[in-house]
Amino acid sequence: MSRVLYIQASPRGKRSKSLAVTDAFIKAYAKSNPDDPIAALNLFEANIPSFDGLAVQAKYTILHGMEHSAEELQAWRSVEKVIETFKSADKYVMAVPMWNFGIPYRLKQYIDLLVQPGYTFSFDPQQGYTGLVTAKPLFVGYARGGEYPPGTDAEAFDLQKRYIELIFGFMGFSQIESVVVEPTLQGGPEVAQRKLAAAVERAEQAWAAFSCRFQKAAVTSASTLIPTGGTPKAGRSGGIR
Ligand SMILES: Cc1cc2nc3c(=O)[nH]c(=O)nc-3n(C[C@H](O)[C@H](O)[C@H](O)COP(=O)(O)O)c2cc1C
Repeated sequence: MSRVLYIQASPRGKRSKSLAVTDAFIKAYAKSNPDDPIAALNLFEANIPSFDGLAVQAKYTILHGMEHSAEELQAWRSVEKVIETFKSADKYVMAVPMWNFGIPYRLKQYIDLLVQPGYTFSFDPQQGYTGLVTAKPLFVGYARGGEYPPGTDAEAFDLQKRYIELIFGFMGFSQIESVVVEPTLQGGPEVAQRKLAAAVERAEQAWAAFSCRFQKAAVTSASTLIPTGGTPKAGRSGGIR
């Protein structure tokens, strides 16, 4: 039995195109794996903690090898809880809209909570950075209003898919599969409908690969690409970034 965490980063509910793609994937997956529990995490509805002054201070207290104050400890426990819930899953599905060429702010907030030294990555002066969330597959449904095809000038503006692959790769994910639906706005409703139908079909087919734990690694782990030279001095539980 595998626990699936379904992370939803669109606030648009039934209108969301990224959710339409991941819903199709989840439906196909659940049909073949009826015993696998699927926990949905809607980032615009969930009460995820802020990564604010106190939480950031708590992070730096750890980096500098000092003891947390009572207030910092309380803030840090909330961060740890988010990470624990995240890491307790075996497989991940995520719906990600493009916002201003990147990702919605609620997903960035969630990532800022997750990416912590000693929890989701480690640092060693000799080895550099190592992702700690390993051997877990991730399926992502991306939606964009415009088009950003590989090999075109528009590709450089895609800081959505590139960032997700980099930051999840940094945390150790090496098996990332995805389906992109684009354009969802440019080109009018007819084009959008046709592109969505094709993307939904691709997502339905992708479940088979997910079900066998993405045997084929689709993305090289970003953590192995980060050079160790010139990195700042390490604190108690990781590099200061
Ligand atoms: C705040 C905001 C910013 C957006 N920025 C972009 C953008 O930079 N490029 C783009 O192609 N589409 C952009 N869009 C359009 C969305 O990517 C598009 O509507 C997509 O389908 C949203 O995903 P969803 O349908 O899953 O919510 C933006 C939409 C919103 C609400």
